[in-house]
Amino acid sequence: MTADYTKVFQDADAVEKYESVTYAPDTYASRINERQQAYLRGLVTREFGDRAPVQHDFACGTGRAIRTLHGLVRAAHGYDTSAEMMAKAAEVGSVAEFHQVPADGPVPEPVDAGLPALVTMFRLLLNVDDAIRDRALAFAAKALPTPESGLLVVENHGNASSVRHLRARRHSGQRWFAELSHEKVAELLGRHGFEVVERRGFSMLTQSLHAHPLARAADAAARRLPGSDAYAVNVLYAARRK
Ligand SMILES: C[S@@+](CC[C@H](N)C(=O)[O-])C[C@H]1O[C@@H](n2cnc3c(N)ncnc32)[C@H](O)[C@@H]1O
Repeated sequence: MTADYTKVFQDADAVEKYESVTYAPDTYASRINERQQAYLRGLVTREFGDRAPVQHDFACGTGRAIRTLHGLVRAAHGYDTSAEMMAKAAEVGSVAEFHQVPADGPVPEPVDAGLPALVTMFRLLLNVDDAIRDRALAFAAKALPTPESGLLVVENHGNASSVRHLRARRHSGQRWFAELSHEKVAELLGRHGFEVVERRGFSMLTQSLHAHPLARAADAAARRLPGSDAYAVNVLYAARRK
């Protein structure tokens, strides 16, 4: 599954679709992205104050996380297997140095750009196998050697304890319909010496439910309830080295 998944993003049509269909204005993904932007900008300001970090965005794709944090980081580096995705990132205005990395083999080296650092890893862990997950988190551990080095933020866009699970049961075994639990994320992070310091949910709805205005209103109310992030479909975890 992982080799196919990596190849998907090397196809010009898939790259175009990612940017102009998946993340078109007012889509499910772009609404979630807007909420994440507000949260991430607040998190970085709160955590780093006037010591702006260098961002290392692993599996950066079209640079969504890079554009989100532009102006709050000292410099940004994007790493990805797909030259096509990174070309699109530059085209849509993601300001960073881009680095193409192999899909497997030795853990890629983060550019030595000083500390503090912020590692972002969005929409990768869900759909790849454990070997690629471990390699990505080993990269993060290299960029963040100590608790004082900075923060890692990872996205899980298929939380297993959410309403999406009902669909996942129907699509079980099909390509790209993976699920990832909070426990699994914590275990993966823990294997690389990270502990989750904050967890935030960004939608209780699946993409198909997002089409219904009433469901969207219920989602907005539910997201304000304490503890609702446990059941969110889309979750961000901020983690620090132990
Ligand atoms: C769904 S896109 C996410 C892009 C971006 N992080 C975002 O959230 O919009 C997944 C990205 O992972 C990259 N990718 C796939 N396999 C990879 C691997 N083994 N190592 C690093 N990046 C990989 C793909 O090229 C693609 O750009």
